[in-house]
Amino acid sequence: MDTPADIFSWKPEYELGITEIDEQHKVLLATTATLHEALESGVDGEEVQTLIDKILALKAEHFATEERRFHEFNFEGTEEHEKFHQDFSNHVVKMREECGSDVKLFGSKLVNFLTHWFVGHLKGVDSKYVQCFHEHGL
Ligand SMILES: [Fe+2]
Ligand SMILES: [Fe+2]
Repeated sequence: MDTPADIFSWKPEYELGITEIDEQHKVLLATTATLHEALESGVDGEEVQTLIDKILALKAEHFATEERRFHEFNFEGTEEHEKFHQDFSNHVVKMREECGSDVKLFGSKLVNFLTHWFVGHLKGVDSKYVQCFHEHGL
């Protein structure tokens, strides 16, 4: 895998200043790092599958948290943001199909996709709701 280790470490610049969101982002990144390490150390497919399931559950919970707040706060960028989340989920489904029963291949593709998506989405998309969330007391 060609992913540099540094990409998995949490950086102050990732902090949005909204506790419930920052905590979810941190856990998502840390769990992705755990999957990366598991793949590197050659664990069995079952363990890889467990970590994949955990990441996808965290991802679903996180998107739901953000989207619940969008509706609660009448966030003007709701539609656009939900589209980014949907595109992410669609891409994951496509990757899984492409990998067939090769769970380790899917795991490594997920690690690569998530880490790169994470930074881009956080800085380019999540950052846009910060002001709105702050205005509503978060
Ligand atoms: Fe988001
Ligand atoms: Fe997010």
